[in-house]
Amino acid sequence: MVSRAARHDVAIVGLGYVGITLAAALADAGLRVLGIERRREVVDSVNSGRSYIYEPGIDAILARCAGGSLHAATGWPDELPPVTIICVSTPADPSTGAPDLSNLKDAAAQISRRMPPDGLVVVRSTVPVGTSRTLVLATLRGRNPEASLAFCPERTVQGAALMELRNLPQVIGAVDDRSADLAERFFSRLTDSIVRLSSPEAAEMVKLVNNCHTDLLYGFGNEVALLASTHGIDPLEVIRGANEGYTERAEGLAVVRPRIAKPGFVGGGCLSKDPYLLLESLGDRDPSLSLVRCARKLNESMPGTAAEDFMRMLGRITADPGAATVLACGMAYKGIPETDDLRGTPAAPFISSIAGRVGRILGHDYRVSPECTAGLGAEPVAIHDGIAAADAIVLLNDHPGYRRDIAGALSTPPGRKILVYDCWRILTDSGVPETENVLYAGLCHEVR
Ligand SMILES: NC(=O)c1ccc[n+]([C@@H]2O[C@H](COP(=O)([O-])OP(=O)(O)OC[C@H]3O[C@@H](n4cnc5c(N)ncnc54)[C@H](O)[C@@H]3O)[C@@H](O)[C@H]2O)c1
Repeated sequence: MVSRAARHDVAIVGLGYVGITLAAALADAGLRVLGIERRREVVDSVNSGRSYIYEPGIDAILARCAGGSLHAATGWPDELPPVTIICVSTPADPSTGAPDLSNLKDAAAQISRRMPPDGLVVVRSTVPVGTSRTLVLATLRGRNPEASLAFCPERTVQGAALMELRNLPQVIGAVDDRSADLAERFFSRLTDSIVRLSSPEAAEMVKLVNNCHTDLLYGFGNEVALLASTHGIDPLEVIRGANEGYTERAEGLAVVRPRIAKPGFVGGGCLSKDPYLLLESLGDRDPSLSLVRCARKLNESMPGTAAEDFMRMLGRITADPGAATVLACGMAYKGIPETDDLRGTPAAPFISSIAGRVGRILGHDYRVSPECTAGLGAEPVAIHDGIAAADAIVLLNDHPGYRRDIAGALSTPPGRKILVYDCWRILTDSGVPETENVLYAGLCHEVR
């Protein structure tokens, strides 16, 4: 048990991606921050001034603030500071999609026993609509009738989180005016831009609809890819034709037409889970009629669809795919901005779909450790060794390093047949030589 309340302005519960970046940003802004985290290794790394996640700028802040304005602990203090922010994980069951709110429940119970009577609790974990009030507020007010509560979502992009914490508008939805005023005063230490909504439910829904909208837009790019594939048309040609000059403002009308997204995988801890939290909020509506469900299912199917298409194309360059060496590039769920996060990564289903059907699977990532690459079922290699050994290269994320390294290696046309399966088409414009030895394909489309 630590008793540090008097020395801290804010406690952050859960030092995962969301908690550690927020803790760093607040400490950097001059607040005294206490991080409460179950995992001992995370607490030790924060207290020694090192980040255990990759995020630009975070190491410098931790090195400067750890042991001073930022302290982490596995235990709870006797009394919490005036503000406590809940950043614990709220996963969805991988087979049923049902939300698991046990971490949130546990955190709320712990906080209710230690918060100052007039303290503010902020829920930052993503939750089904209504959870902050029915689960967290109910627990807090059971002991502290004056407790204040706001839902203030985290909406940053991994890889640019510290910059976005200062620049993005902070949405606030609170249970009453006092709570909203306290939350606004608190977050104005971090950002100039506050969007105040009338309730925590509205703010919870903002977080869910922001992410589900992204899932839906990317899902439509995949819909276009599959439709184009049926007709042997290049989806990028269709998307270019559809978008070119079509986003302009029509004369006299304040209309901006939405752009169609490029096809690609949609992964990450949030986009792979938040649609299920939104589906939990549908009430009596038939889930089979929900656009959100349909987009999620389509996006989840893409790595398997790509794996089958890849195997078909592999059969075009070798009579024995079972002996082929495949280099899988990009283990992290995305390449821009770069990250080492593997949650919801398409590399996992893609690799397991081709495992046992090809000779060897080599794996490379610029940020993910060799141990984690091996954990996904690929033998970790340096990029140039992998390219030299491969019969087929598959780009699973859009890290720009692959444009440089693969295009560089292939600028001398290979003396053997090779398949380059570029799920993100990052090599389309410049990266692949037009020679008969190279079969170049995008997601479900043979380019040349
Ligand atoms: N990762 C993102 O970019 C992102 C963005 C927006 C919102 N969110 C949401 O924020 C929440 C946290 O996400 P994350 O990515 O940081 O998750 P995470 O799994 O990386 O981190 C959560 C941390 O909370 C700790 N924890 C869980 N229960 C605890 C408890 N009772 N006491 C102390 N520590 C506890 C876990 O050990 C873990 O380290 C989730 O609800 C997520 O959906 C995530």
